[in-house]
Amino acid sequence: MPRKIVKSKYFIEENFVETLAEVPTEDVKPWESDEELKVVGKPISRVDGYDKVSGSATYMFDVILPNMVHAKTLRCPFPHAKIRRIDTSRAKKLPGVLDIITHANTPEITWYRDTSRLFDPHLRYEGDEIACVAAKTEHIAEQALKQIEVEYEELPFAIDPGQAMKDGAARIHDWGNILRGKPATYERGDVKKGFSEAEVVVEEEFSTQVAIHNPTEVHGSVVNWDGDYLTIWDSTQAVFRVRDTVATSLNIPSSHVRVIKKYMGGGFGSKLFAGKYTVMAALLAKRIGRPVKITLDRREMNLAVGNRPDSVQKLKIGAKNDGTLVAMTHYSYGSSGAYPSGAGCSWPLRTLYKCPNVSTEEYTVMTNAGAGRPFRAPGHVQGTFAFESILDDIAEKLNMDPIEFRLKNYTDIDQVQELPYTSKRLREAYEKGARAIGWSNRKQTPGSDSGPIKRGIGMASQIWWGGGGPPAYATLKLNRDGSAHVLAGTQDIGTGTYTFMAQVTAEVLEIPVDKIQITLGDTDACPYCPLSGGSMTAPSVSPAVRHAAEQMKDKLISGAGAIWNVPEAQLRYAKGVISAADDGSKQMPISDVIKEMKEQVLITTGARAANPEGYAINSFGAQFADVEVNIETGKVRVLKIVAAHDVGRVLNHKTMENQFHGGVMQGLSFALMEERIIDEATGKVLTTNLHTYKLPTIMDMPEIEVIIVSESDPLISNTGVKGIGEPAIIPTAGAIANAIYNATGVRMKSTPMTPDKVLMALNS
Ligand code: MOS
Repeated sequence: MPRKIVKSKYFIEENFVETLAEVPTEDVKPWESDEELKVVGKPISRVDGYDKVSGSATYMFDVILPNMVHAKTLRCPFPHAKIRRIDTSRAKKLPGVLDIITHANTPEITWYRDTSRLFDPHLRYEGDEIACVAAKTEHIAEQALKQIEVEYEELPFAIDPGQAMKDGAARIHDWGNILRGKPATYERGDVKKGFSEAEVVVEEEFSTQVAIHNPTEVHGSVVNWDGDYLTIWDSTQAVFRVRDTVATSLNIPSSHVRVIKKYMGGGFGSKLFAGKYTVMAALLAKRIGRPVKITLDRREMNLAVGNRPDSVQKLKIGAKNDGTLVAMTHYSYGSSGAYPSGAGCSWPLRTLYKCPNVSTEEYTVMTNAGAGRPFRAPGHVQGTFAFESILDDIAEKLNMDPIEFRLKNYTDIDQVQELPYTSKRLREAYEKGARAIGWSNRKQTPGSDSGPIKRGIGMASQIWWGGGGPPAYATLKLNRDGSAHVLAGTQDIGTGTYTFMAQVTAEVLEIPVDKIQITLGDTDACPYCPLSGGSMTAPSVSPAVRHAAEQMKDKLISGAGAIWNVPEAQLRYAKGVISAADDGSKQMPISDVIKEMKEQVLITTGARAANPEGYAINSFGAQFADVEVNIETGKVRVLKIVAAHDVGRVLNHKTMENQFHGGVMQGLSFALMEERIIDEATGKVLTTNLHTYKLPTIMDMPEIEVIIVSESDPLISNTGVKGIGEPAIIPTAGAIANAIYNATGVRMKSTPMTPDKVLMALNS
């Protein structure tokens, strides 16, 4: 099918991307909202489910190659230091040690983060890489690390972003501690004038913690050179990005690097970028001529592969007595860590409700700690907690129901881009969610339960992008026996990509799911697809798969027409069989069509079409929390979360619910438990394992009810899908905070809302 190059725009995480992309000249007609689909949307089990539960699925860690050796990294033990002297000679003599790389013997290797060198003798956080050892066993490599002699010059450090912003703070980079030297700002309308018209003004300060992604599967790579060609088995959300980053670092063509990622145990954003460890392993493998495996341990995971930046947020909101918002300002700062990352969090305030006068000012501050990375709805989790909390406070001052207040300021326009939304079903999410949680049971007077256990109900709303967009391609191969093979260079990060690709193909070709093989996560085998982040996988990839399958159907019909010498218009396609409308003798299963065509395999490649012009594409939702607060212990127990969301079309009901369970769990955990803690005196991270870094277990889980209020959004793409990975986590903390207020009459302004903080707030 002919294709054309068009302008395309979409949001990935917090960034607006404008690109040129190759798209179909004419896309397949979208499935209608009320169209009866047979496979798509159904709660079928994951096609890779058996492999996973039986333990036969191969993850990066399971890759074992002949002659393979192991690598380990020496990391800086201080928050800020310079290397005065390093001596690896004793370590090299340890039997079983094969090679050691440091800044001294890798001068030509650069690193993309700040185009600095792979190993920089200026160490900026506890965990910064100093050396990497290859040895016959992991144990020997670990022993060798202890034999490397390093003389450090310890430097003054800055851990707290508020301190690091000030004059005289320890300098982390020559260019200073504030990213780009100034805040990111946004403004619309006239804030001063807006506040002068306000009848009620509320001003509050909130803070959120640094949270660590801590996916179940650790980061790591297995690398193997075959001559000048490098193969990398990686645990990554972005096979093509890893390929290109590693190729650039090693100064070899991208075509010489193959990245494979078959299965993955989570990433949440921490695996959106190539790891330094991959380049270190590739260098060692080249030098010693053997495959190298490098995997991080939980301590390294908690120090060196990203985090959700913390935030201090000052919000000021003005409204009229009838509830109309007239002005809002948001000032924030957050720690980027030692290398550039984004710490902004004002987007929800800018776009979620109608307000003519808005200004935001956000500082991203460098600190001597591990660098931040996008973490499941970056910025929005922090921003929504603060914003949705203060909204409840202003609603109370106005004597309005929180939902009524939100509805009063409802908007169908994206006020930043000044564009209408392709669809917005937040109203329905409020209605259905409120009914499911029993909104009428919330306390009319907060904290009015007698006894030490106080119960309350709260809610919060969510907006996110996640419309995806081109470029994204899928190749479909149909074999003589009627079996199909779909290939796309996307990733299944645990969300169900394998399964929806099979479902979309099965829907179009009307063949059983088990006749469809899926290959993804392989830069050599598959056509390009974007990284798996920003909730854009299903919205980008599913339309490309459908486009490939529809073309295959057309090709088969054309083939049958040629075989029978019958015009295509007279042919019918049903259940994988082609028949002539007015000649009952002409019937052929598609496998026979391929044979009669004298083909071995038919091939089509589908492409994701461009997003519609003149619209904003966003997902929406509201979550409702029912909580109990024990005012004697400060312990918050979440009894139930209702997640009511507009996500466009659901491709698979089971994997969709699964993502909501994960998102709500992670949101609850952000709200109540998780926190990276750094010792102020030494600058060292105290929470470097899963004993001290608190993640929830099944005992902490509430009842979760998921309600989807959308059928499809046919304006976006031929499948009408919006992403759901990130929306699921966004409103949870705000809903819990508002429920705690309803239960106790006390406003929590800092996450995690741990028992000590709750008690302190209750007693103040
Ligand atoms: Mo991104 S934080 O992996 O969706």
